[in-house]
Amino acid sequence: MSTFQPVRGMRDLLAQDAETLTYVISKARENAQLYGFQEVITPIVEPLELLSAKSGDEIRQRMFIFDDLGGRRVALRPEFTASIARLATTALRSEPKPFRLFSVGSVYRYDEPQRGRYREFWQANFELMGSAKPEADAEIILLANSLLKNVGLTGYAIKLGHIGIVKAILAQEGVDDKTQNAVFQKMDKKEFEAAYALLNAKCRAVLEGLVALKGETSAETVEKLREHIKGYEGAVASVDNLAAILKLVTEAGCSIQKVDPAFARGLEYYTGIIFELYVPELDIALGGGGRYDKLIEAFGGEPTPAIGMAAGLDRIGLAIQAQKTVLKKHQQKKVMVIAIKEDQKGDALKIAQKLRDEGISAEFEVMGRKMAKALEDADKRNTDYAVIVGERELKEGKVVVKDLANRTQAEVEISALAQKIRS
Ligand code: HAM
Repeated sequence: MSTFQPVRGMRDLLAQDAETLTYVISKARENAQLYGFQEVITPIVEPLELLSAKSGDEIRQRMFIFDDLGGRRVALRPEFTASIARLATTALRSEPKPFRLFSVGSVYRYDEPQRGRYREFWQANFELMGSAKPEADAEIILLANSLLKNVGLTGYAIKLGHIGIVKAILAQEGVDDKTQNAVFQKMDKKEFEAAYALLNAKCRAVLEGLVALKGETSAETVEKLREHIKGYEGAVASVDNLAAILKLVTEAGCSIQKVDPAFARGLEYYTGIIFELYVPELDIALGGGGRYDKLIEAFGGEPTPAIGMAAGLDRIGLAIQAQKTVLKKHQQKKVMVIAIKEDQKGDALKIAQKLRDEGISAEFEVMGRKMAKALEDADKRNTDYAVIVGERELKEGKVVVKDLANRTQAEVEISALAQKIRS
């Protein structure tokens, strides 16, 4: 029989890959705390109806859907936003606003597997619910910025747009919601010709103008945008909103946004600004988000404006590898405790326990190897110190500590062992 492999598009993460992912998760969690986000844990399996209601065709057609044994139609979550919006309509319904909620975990989409695109991947998700003010949008953009900074990436950019601009233009021209959504799906994939094909000549001309519109700076792009959308009231309000958010973010010291007037995202629930995060080394987004003011209401909750974003942790991991970013983890010294003879194993195990009690990472030799082999193995595993427990030293309350990098060794009092390893 051939051996089992993971399901297509799903991966086993080992060694460096697992270490990078857990590093990014820890940074995301740190970031959540810095911005006052509370962590919530929601199920991976959710009712299909919840997940498909407002997500858009792009995601709807890529879900892992099944019936559970009770005949319920369920799916693996393709994102967190629907689950968090559900919370706002149930458990958190009467809690004081705003909510700042953080989640991290695996999500599932039947995407075509390639580098940076998997069927099981990880997101760190941030939702700020209850405020329609530009301040809330600014907080989320600044949070996205500091997440990339804190993991150690450089040269990143935030692509910023406002779905309200095109939405208002198309609505004023009488284009229905369904067609609008289809247009956004095409624009998201940069299939502009296919998007224009869904529209009349007037809409097409306005949209073509937006696609072509570019300024030297974000401020200049916004000014050109104002000129371009004159006469479309809703679009003017959206540009004002975009400008207000840009001003706040820039004044707060974050000047990495690039405004793209023809930017659209695949998800259907967005109503305001939308954004994506990029590094020059990769042509895929490291994260994305936007404002969605109608979702919670659509799920039966109180009208609750909201903004959020999800960072793609696997892709941030790829960016870290591409930029050769040093993982700024708290480097723990690694210790292997080895008993010379059978008789000392109990004492040696006790010494290993004592080290762990004092917060030092210690492995106990469990393979029954002879000393030379055990040391060779410890060395191969990048262990810093071998603690050798022998009869004679034990009687004096000591052990031998071997520094495996420097090939030196010394007798150390057991009571001073943890301190010696730390120093
Ligand atoms: P999204 O843009 O669909 O947004 O996904 C966010 C990020 O997840 C992407 O930018 C990308 O880094 C990562 N990602 C998406 N698909 C894959 C894949 N197949 N393999 C690896 N990484 C992937 C959302 O999910 C929204 N819920 C974000 C949001 C929160 N908007 C408001 N609140």
